[in-house]
Amino acid sequence: MAKMTLEELRKLRSSQKSEMERRDVDGKETHIIVGMGTCGIAAGAKMALDSFLDAIKANDLKDVVVKQTGCMGLCYSEPTVEVKVPGMPDVIYGNVDAAVAKEIVEKHIIHKKMVENHIQDKPAGDIIK
Ligand code: FES
Repeated sequence: MAKMTLEELRKLRSSQKSEMERRDVDGKETHIIVGMGTCGIAAGAKMALDSFLDAIKANDLKDVVVKQTGCMGLCYSEPTVEVKVPGMPDVIYGNVDAAVAKEIVEKHIIHKKMVENHIQDKPAGDIIK
């Protein structure tokens, strides 16, 4: 393995630091939770996760955390992702590929409009907090 220069190490540290900040939950109210169970990973959950991180970075969204969880029990619609935005019902999206992940960030997170054709589950109107 080639040795890294001091400058390369600094760049790596800075990129890892911003990556860690995007995964830090403290004080963040919007949560994107990606199902990373076996079937989720097999269906491409890692690409969805990376796409969420890229879109959050591209839009400079500071109040959003991306987390991983295990199996959500929805094999048929993997990759599955739960999105929690203050003032909106919690939504579980299915079949979230990289393009859909980007769409969720742009529509649901930024413009507060759900991505209707990928909703797998959301609470009924009368039980929304
Ligand atoms: S492993 Fe597929 S739903 Fe749990």
